[in-house]
Amino acid sequence: MKNIDSIGHVTGKSVYLDDIPTLRGTLHASILGSTVASGKIVRFDTSKALELEGVERIITYNDITGENQIGGIIEDEPLFADHEVHFHGQPIAIAVATSEFIARKAVSLIEVEYEEHTPVVNPREAQQKGLLLIPPRTFKMGSVDETWAKCKYIFEGSVEMGGQEHLYIETQGSYAYPIENGYIKVHSSTQGPTAVQKTISRVLGIPMHLIEVDVVRLGGGFGGKEDQASGFAAMAALAAHILQKPVKLVLPRHDDMRMTGKRHPYSADFRIGLSADYKILAYQTTLYQNGGAAADLSPAIMERTLFHSTGAYFIPNTQVTVYSCKTNLPPNTAFRGFGGPQGMFVIESAIAKAANELGVPTTSIQEANLLKEKDEFQYGQIAENVNIGECFRTASDKYELKKLQSDIDNFNSQNKYQKRGLALMPLCFGISFTNTSMNQARALVHIYQDGSVSVSTGVIEMGQGVNTKLAQIASQMLGIGIDKVKIHSTNTSRVANTSPTAASSGADLNGNALVIALKALIARLKDVAAEITGSKAEQIEFVNEEVTANGKSTGLSWKKLVQTAHFKRVCLTENGHYATPTIFFDKTKEKGHPFAYHVYGTAAIAVTVDCIRGTYVIDDVLIIHDFGNSINPTIDLGQVEGAVVQGIGWATLEELAYNEKGKLLSNSLSTYKVPDIYFAPKTLKCEALNTKGPELAVFKSKAVGEPPFMYGIAAYFAIQNAIKSFNANYKPDFDLPMTPEKVLMRLYGG
Ligand code: MTE
Ligand code: HPA
Ligand code: MOS
Repeated sequence: MKNIDSIGHVTGKSVYLDDIPTLRGTLHASILGSTVASGKIVRFDTSKALELEGVERIITYNDITGENQIGGIIEDEPLFADHEVHFHGQPIAIAVATSEFIARKAVSLIEVEYEEHTPVVNPREAQQKGLLLIPPRTFKMGSVDETWAKCKYIFEGSVEMGGQEHLYIETQGSYAYPIENGYIKVHSSTQGPTAVQKTISRVLGIPMHLIEVDVVRLGGGFGGKEDQASGFAAMAALAAHILQKPVKLVLPRHDDMRMTGKRHPYSADFRIGLSADYKILAYQTTLYQNGGAAADLSPAIMERTLFHSTGAYFIPNTQVTVYSCKTNLPPNTAFRGFGGPQGMFVIESAIAKAANELGVPTTSIQEANLLKEKDEFQYGQIAENVNIGECFRTASDKYELKKLQSDIDNFNSQNKYQKRGLALMPLCFGISFTNTSMNQARALVHIYQDGSVSVSTGVIEMGQGVNTKLAQIASQMLGIGIDKVKIHSTNTSRVANTSPTAASSGADLNGNALVIALKALIARLKDVAAEITGSKAEQIEFVNEEVTANGKSTGLSWKKLVQTAHFKRVCLTENGHYATPTIFFDKTKEKGHPFAYHVYGTAAIAVTVDCIRGTYVIDDVLIIHDFGNSINPTIDLGQVEGAVVQGIGWATLEELAYNEKGKLLSNSLSTYKVPDIYFAPKTLKCEALNTKGPELAVFKSKAVGEPPFMYGIAAYFAIQNAIKSFNANYKPDFDLPMTPEKVLMRLYGG
């Protein structure tokens, strides 16, 4: 079953926000962003901008009809800066004009003078100055303090991790227009239509039922539109509300790159203690999350860093603390993995450090400490259906990794200026929003009189193929062709109070809600079919658009059944509600059972480093992944491929450079390098571990969106291993991303 969007995508017919035909009289908005990272606005003059022909209005905080507040978790973020600015690119005003060109020109004519302050861009500096977004949190198990004395080996180190630009193909955007009687309709490129609706309600000062948010699909979100689409939608809606005209705001790439938050950079210190046989007995780490100028989703991301700080390992004594630090960067936000990758990179660094110091292969320490069935996570959940050991060993056997390593060793002994390296990354990622209450969804299903079916849920299609999975579920359960199922846009008037499509849980939550709705419809239709055919409801099945009883044809078609049911006044509409059972978390104890299940897998990555240039090639990515009983192996493989390459990008090429004044220097595609097809791995193999899949995954098909991102971490260590075989003086350090420039310094450094 291929992706239902594939033809639309390759023929360019799929509709994205900027493709929606605009109404007559539509105005266009452009944003004025701060040009300093920290300061006071001392002069603000719009007179020249307003003289420009075609300019309708300049809108600032002064024009806001409701509250100047868009903070989702914490109320600490204005829509428009009032007197102070806290990051370079912070929105101060929008110009609204008859064309985008004029709107942009108007922005350039607004005169702003600042009293500039020295920005804080380093999270450790922020922490020392007491600049925290929320109080720190600590997860603990056992006692590290009592264990250090029992450890044969103890190692310490520090880790730096850079951020990451989402670089969704479609930039942030929104189109808002008044309908009548104060009702406003908003199209937004958002992962969270309800978040958009709530934010607009607050900023405009109107109730939520007067706001309809509609989303057909996104050209990628990757977390960047979980929360951050809301502010841009509120700007368009505010202008539409004030001017009573349609207003469109689509960010140019440059504005998107400098104004929006990214993956959080983190800085960390670790201490790891091992026994004589390389069991990790104790692990302590403190992480400094670079949150940016407002909380955004940082508190939730900090939480997932805590959850995943021990990676795929069981460590009996742990103590992990995260500080969420307030700096003068754009508020950092959700990005595939949601703080998990940062937690995992630190434990992998600690293990690599121990292995380097002890002179043993990293894999031997990794393997000795992999999580086992019924082990306790440091957050209290007991690990179930654990197959990380199996993934690790299967990867080693199936891909003959011992032989690959010895081939690499041979290659390295025969080549002076080309060195190869190999590293493994075991994966364990928890599925569910860590905030238990967000784990709910609804699905609204209509069966029309001709037997065709319409499905609306709270999920957003952003390229991950969730609409195809939903269509498959409806088609399979009703026994009808996929052409008879339409997955509609996500709309807050049809499905309300949605959680954002995030945490890899979109298909599980909305798919399970759909299953519940379909089961109810099927039960009603089976009763009707039993009555018509004179059989029992339990004997009825729907197969290939026919009704069967006891496995035999009844001559009754699906279409006729639906028509008869309608004639008999049976309701052909159902609303399914799903809330993940079994999960809970007690924040006062930092213990609970927050995840429905975990996703496991192992990746091996082999690279070749050019020791004259510092450049490198990703040769092989070899994965064993637990998909459960995949509902759509083609789509799931696509998710693995995309996530791995994105993860490798974070670990290697992608470097966000800021100057000392907090201005983003890598603010365009010529200065921010993401993996392209030439950089993509020469070989990527991904085999499924043969498992049944957990009950709580929809159709037992495990969530797949984020977990494989973390396989990319192996690329960092593979390159590090290659450098080690060139430069015996190199002391492995942990400073992600491993850009070619950094490689070159390490090839020749002491
Ligand atoms: N795949 C594509 N093509 N585009 C995206 O924006 N987002 C990722 C992942 N895969 C994304 C993607 C992220 S961050 C998440 S949380 C999941 O998809 C969300 O969708 P799901 O819950 O349906 O897996
Ligand atoms: N993952 C992703 N997005 C989220 C989460 C989470 O756990 N919690 C809130 N938003
Ligand atoms: Mo994904 S970072 O949970 O949108």
